[in-house]
Parts: sequence; C-alpha cells; structure tokens
Amino acid sequence: MSADAQKRHAGEAAALRVEAGMVVGLGTGSTAAWFVKALAARGLEGLRCVPTSEATAELARELGLTLSTLEDTPRIDLTVDGADEVGPGLALIKGGGAALLREKLVWEASARCLVIADKAKVVPVLGAFALPIEVVAFGHKTTANRIADVLADHDIAMPARVRMAERGLVRTDGGNLIYDAKCAAIHDPVRLADDLKLITGVVEHGLFLDLADEAIIGTDDGFDLLTP
Ligand code: A5P
Repeated sequence: MSADAQKRHAGEAAALRVEAGMVVGLGTGSTAAWFVKALAARGLEGLRCVPTSEATAELARELGLTLSTLEDTPRIDLTVDGADEVGPGLALIKGGGAALLREKLVWEASARCLVIADKAKVVPVLGAFALPIEVVAFGHKTTANRIADVLADHDIAMPARVRMAERGLVRTDGGNLIYDAKCAAIHDPVRLADDLKLITGVVEHGLFLDLADEAIIGTDDGFDLLTP
C-alpha cells in the first residue's frame, strides 16, 4: 500500500480526536491535508481553526471550516500536523513545506500537539532529511556563513543550501528564505537547536523538540500510536 494511504489513515484517526467547540491548529503538508479533509467531513459544531500556512488556510476555507488567528484565539486546544522525520522521544524535523515558523508558533500555543505521519518518517536518528532553517532575506549569504560555522561545530561538513523553486528562491509565507542543511545524522539535537537559534538572521529552524505529545503513524491497515 502507498505512503499516501498511510498518511490518510493517520489523518483520519487524528480527526476523531477533535471535539465540538475546540480551537484546532491545522498543520501543513500532504498528511495534514488528509486531517483537514477528515475534520471538515465530521461537521463538528463550534470549531475554530488556526491554519499554519496560506495553503492550509485556503484548503480549510474551501471545505467550510471556520478560520481563526493566533491573535483572536491565542490558546489552541489541539494542533495536528505532519513531520518530515519522527525521531526518538518524538523529536521531529519539520519544514519540508517551508511552513516551519508558523507551525512552531501554533504548536507552542497549543495545549496538546499530535503529529501524524506515514511509517517511513519514523527514524532512529534525525538528520537524513535535510534540516530546514528559515532565514531573513537581508544579508542571507552572510547568515549562511554563520550557519556553516555552527554546522561545522556539530561535525556537519556540508554547508546549508538555499532552497530554490523553478522560478527562483523559495519564499515562506512570511517572506523569508529557507536554507536546507544536509546533516546526515544529528547527534545532539538540543545543542544544535540552541546554537542555530542564536545566529543573527536565523528566524527559526525545523527541529521540533519536546513539543509533540503523541504520534499517530499510519500503517497499511490502520495506525500505531507513539508517545515520547
Ligand atoms: C511543512 O512545512 C512541514 O512541516 C510538513 O508538515 C512536513 O513537511 C510533512 O509534510 P508531508 O505530510 O507532506 O509529508
């Protein structure tokens, strides 16, 4: 069976965790899209949804979900979102879809965070998926040099590369750039997260540590639950 079917199983299982009247954080990506569709199909009363990207906002709007913002609903009951890698202790790499900053803002405002993913996302060590780092556009090449120094300090020899699309540099919803760092293996995610945050010009990185309360991992015929 396909990864997409596993993503669907995870998304549909997560939608059953939502109750009427909740404020729900809506993640970004193909797995989160299955959740958004399943949630809309439930037709629960009084839901208010805070999307983590313009793409998710558009999908949710089309499906008739009521949207809100972090300003209007600063306390979110439950956020459901995908991930690029799910490591030990539910440490995550996120940001493959360039939405990591809004995702982290919504996750950190949430009483509970549920990560949904297909089986291939579960890894023994984070880092095979290139770590996304969101950087302000002004002076980004000098910021990239500082990122390279920090990566070298973590025995990561390859400098991060700016993310490109067919039509040029990828811009996030906030107008920033994404650098992707091929780490291979991140041996000390906590220290790397701290070190990246201290770099002038770095807005956020895709390491989500101590944020996920539970994971629903889609399988061919259902799902498995993981806790930290
Ligand atoms: C968006 O920026 C990401 O954090 C996504 O949640 C992540 O890339 C997972 O995407 P898929 O569900 O499409 O694999």
